Amino acid sequence: MRIANIKLEGNIFLAPMSNVTNLPFRLMCREYGASMSYTEMISSDAIIHENKKTVRRGISCDSERPFGIQIFGNSPETMIVAAQRIEESYRPDIIDVNFGCPARLLTKDGCGSALLRSPELIFDILKDLVDNLSTPVTAKIRILENMEDSIKIAELIEKAGASAITVHGRTQQQQYSGKSNMDYAKRIKQELSIPVIANGDIVDEHSAEKILEYTECDGIMIGRAAMGNPFLFKRISYYMTTGELLEYNSCQQRYADFSDYIERLDEYGLTDTINMKAQAQWFTRGIRGGRSVREKIAASKNIDEISYHIKEMCDNVD
Ligand SMILES: Cc1cc2nc3c(=O)[nH]c(=O)nc-3n(C[C@H](O)[C@H](O)[C@H](O)COP(=O)(O)O)c2cc1C
Repeated sequence: MRIANIKLEGNIFLAPMSNVTNLPFRLMCREYGASMSYTEMISSDAIIHENKKTVRRGISCDSERPFGIQIFGNSPETMIVAAQRIEESYRPDIIDVNFGCPARLLTKDGCGSALLRSPELIFDILKDLVDNLSTPVTAKIRILENMEDSIKIAELIEKAGASAITVHGRTQQQQYSGKSNMDYAKRIKQELSIPVIANGDIVDEHSAEKILEYTECDGIMIGRAAMGNPFLFKRISYYMTTGELLEYNSCQQRYADFSDYIERLDEYGLTDTINMKAQAQWFTRGIRGGRSVREKIAASKNIDEISYHIKEMCDNVD
C-alpha cells in the first residue's frame, strides 16, 4: 500500500504505544514483517522545551524506514514548531497526530481524544501541519458515540490534507473496555479517498484476516497483542502471503525474542528507560507455565535472573 509518496511493503502496522514501542522493539517487529512503525506519542510542548527524555524517545535509524513519529498537543502554533523541529532533526517518513489517547494526563489539557469534541481544532491543527511541513501528515483517532459524527471528523481530517487515518473502534469513555467496533472503520473507508487503517483487537492470523476483509480497509494496525510478542508480525504476514498457519515453537521463540530484545536495548543504551520486569512479563503471556514464571520474574533482582527464569520455563515446555 501507499501513504502519500511512501510505498509500504504490505499493510500491517505496529501501533504506537507509550513505554512499549521503543526503537529496539520496533526494529524487531519490522524485521518480522510489520510494514510500518511509529514512535510512541511525543508531547509537542516537551519538544519545544527540549526535554531530553522526550527527544531521546524520538530516535530512529535508517533500517527502520519508513517510520513515523507521533506527536500530541492542543495548539496548532506549538505543534507546527514541534513538528518542524522533528522534521529537521529526525527526517521521519510520516508525522502522525494523536487524536485518540483517552488518558487523563492528555485529555485534561485538551490533547489526544479530548480533541474529538473540537472537530474545527482538529482541522486547524492538521491543515497547519500539512501547509508547513514537507513530511506527509497522518491522524489516529478513536470513534465518537455515533457514526455520523465519527464520519464528519474523518472527512475533516481528509479535507485538512492528511495522507491517511487510523481508526480505533472504541470511544474515549470506553478506554480499553468492550470490543473495538469495526463498523466505523468500514464506513469511514467507504466515505474517504485517503488510506484507512483499522485498529483494535487484532490478536492473531484469523482476526487480522477477518478485520481486513470485513472493513475493506487499506491496512490493519496491531497494538497490545504485539507486546512481548514481536513474532506475531511474522505469523500474520506468513498467513497473509501463504494462507497457511506458520508452525513454530512458541516458548523457544519467546525466549529467543526476549534475549534479542535485551541485547538491542543494551546496544541502544535504552535498558534503563524501560520497566524490565513488566516487559519480561509480557514475553511470557500465553505460554504454558507463564503464571509461575511471572511470579519468579517479579521477585528477580536483575536481568540475568529474569532471563534464567524465562529460559528455565522454556526448557521445561515442549
Ligand atoms: C500501553 C499502551 C500505550 C499506548 N500508547 C499509545 C500512543 O502513544 N499513541 C497512540 O496513538 N496510541 C497509543 N495506544 C493505543 C494503541 O495504539 C491502539 O490504538 C490500542 O491499543 C488498540 O489497539 P489493540 O487492540 O491492537 O491494542 C497505546 C495502547 C497501549 C496498550
